[in-house]
Amino acid sequence: MGHTPGSEEAWVLTTQAAKETKRLGALLAPFLRPGDIIALRGDLGAGKTTFVQGVARGLGITRPVTSPSFILINEYPSTPPLFHIDCYRLEDADAEARDIGLEDLLYDDGVCVIEWADRVATLLPPERIDITLMWLGPDEREIEVRGHGTRYTALVRKLRQEWQAIHEARDS
Ligand SMILES: Nc1ncnc2c1ncn2[C@@H]1O[C@H](COP(=O)(O)OP(=O)(O)OP(=O)(O)O)[C@@H](O)[C@H]1O
Ligand SMILES: [Mg+2]
Repeated sequence: MGHTPGSEEAWVLTTQAAKETKRLGALLAPFLRPGDIIALRGDLGAGKTTFVQGVARGLGITRPVTSPSFILINEYPSTPPLFHIDCYRLEDADAEARDIGLEDLLYDDGVCVIEWADRVATLLPPERIDITLMWLGPDEREIEVRGHGTRYTALVRKLRQEWQAIHEARDS
């Protein structure tokens, strides 16, 4: 994809409860800037919406965050604004995504968090954060966080450092 060496960073962690997945999202939130794109993958019930709830909390959003499955996009007026997008119900994903203005949104001044991002993969810019959630057990999830491009590579490193600092402090 034309990336130079070192411009990709992957980190895999496991969470043991929904609140930990939310905490990961909340920790990421302060790093986010207008135009940032977070592409979420994972099966039904993997924890994508749970993660977005954490991001929303970290951005100071108090309105409840639910899956925007029927209207596809929920917008929250935080700073930066949060666009919560769910592509699950798109049938002809690319065409419909264009119809609902996904591309405009991706280049707008908000943070886009996209559930079922694999369905609109061809529309996503190469520089973004990919987060893949996998069910390990009722309360356990494996989460891969992958940053593409210089800015997101650095961001994923900072997020991992913060997460590990919190967990080491707690474990010691
Ligand atoms: N470690 C964990 N991380 C995330 N969610 C967890 C965890 N443990 C249990 N859960 C539960 O799993 C469920 C995840 O549901 P959620 O709606 O976030 O999934 P989703 O990936 O958005 O699914 P969908 O594809 O249907 O939108 C929630 O009920 C949550 O409480
Ligand atoms: Mg969801």
